Amino acid sequence: MAARKHFTDTDTADEAVRTTCDDATICKRFATSKGYWKDPYIQYFARSVGERRTPEINRGYYARVQGVNHLLDAFVRKAECDCQVINLGAGLDTTFWRLKDENLMPRKFFEVDFPTVVARKIHHIKTKPSLSKPIIETHSTDSLLLDVHSLDSDRYCIIGADLRDITNLDQKLKKFQLNPELPTLFLSECVLVYMTPSQSSNLVHWAADTFHTAMFVNYEQKERFLKTGWEHADALDMMTIYSMLPQDDVARIEHLEFLDEKELLQQLLQHYSISWATKDKLNLGNAQICVGFICAA
Ligand SMILES: C[S@@+](CC[C@H](N)C(=O)[O-])C[C@H]1O[C@@H](n2cnc3c(N)ncnc32)[C@H](O)[C@@H]1O
Repeated sequence: MAARKHFTDTDTADEAVRTTCDDATICKRFATSKGYWKDPYIQYFARSVGERRTPEINRGYYARVQGVNHLLDAFVRKAECDCQVINLGAGLDTTFWRLKDENLMPRKFFEVDFPTVVARKIHHIKTKPSLSKPIIETHSTDSLLLDVHSLDSDRYCIIGADLRDITNLDQKLKKFQLNPELPTLFLSECVLVYMTPSQSSNLVHWAADTFHTAMFVNYEQKERFLKTGWEHADALDMMTIYSMLPQDDVARIEHLEFLDEKELLQQLLQHYSISWATKDKLNLGNAQICVGFICAA
């Protein structure tokens, strides 16, 4: 009886975690509708713009998207696209389509999320030609794998898996031609926080053990990388990142909406951070990649 109750509680908690991707997507859709940044694909994952979000939230998302994209793009450029990206807990993220439009496609872009989230994402892709066309265009044969819980094409792969089960995760990624020899960028935005410290450490450890040239970009928590096999780790709080973004673009977005209380934005941004860690056997210079737009690769 006790075991059954425990199972039910865990299940309910997981269901709550799964719905967080909708909140992230709706916030991003609202911010893009205001002009903070461009994302022509987000409309296909969030039907309406939704209720108004405060300027603090919009600016916070702006800083997060710019900061994470900057690290990701710098890594892909250093590897001259001869690399892989693994987006852990990707939710309804649209990065694959942005990279394709910007000619920055890695050899393969992987996404992992719970099977039910993946099923919803695949349904959107199947029913919206603007999403499916770029996947078909970058696929060379007729044999594109598409079922309820996975999509596998030459350049884009979506896998339904629980990130807390490392053995299963490793097996599934390898089944879809993950190559441990390729430089690999991990992305986890607001994901590790939903796991226990030991579960997230296992995941970060597995990434360090499996790849010799890699970078892990994490939005939200600072510590843990150096203890889990990474050679170099850094973190910046979002207020610092905001102050390092290209200031002409920051001036542009600051004119989009009036912000009454600057202190509130400051407090909010200081609460979050982007951390990143690298391993660099191939000497690509990954440790030199940083969010500071001035010293960027
Ligand atoms: C807050 S959302 C962020 C989504 C996306 N990274 C973004 O920034 O738009 C967190 C995502 O992590 C996924 N997630 C959390 N824990 C997970 C786990 N143990 N296994 C697979 N996915 C998980 C959730 O399903 C959800 O899609």
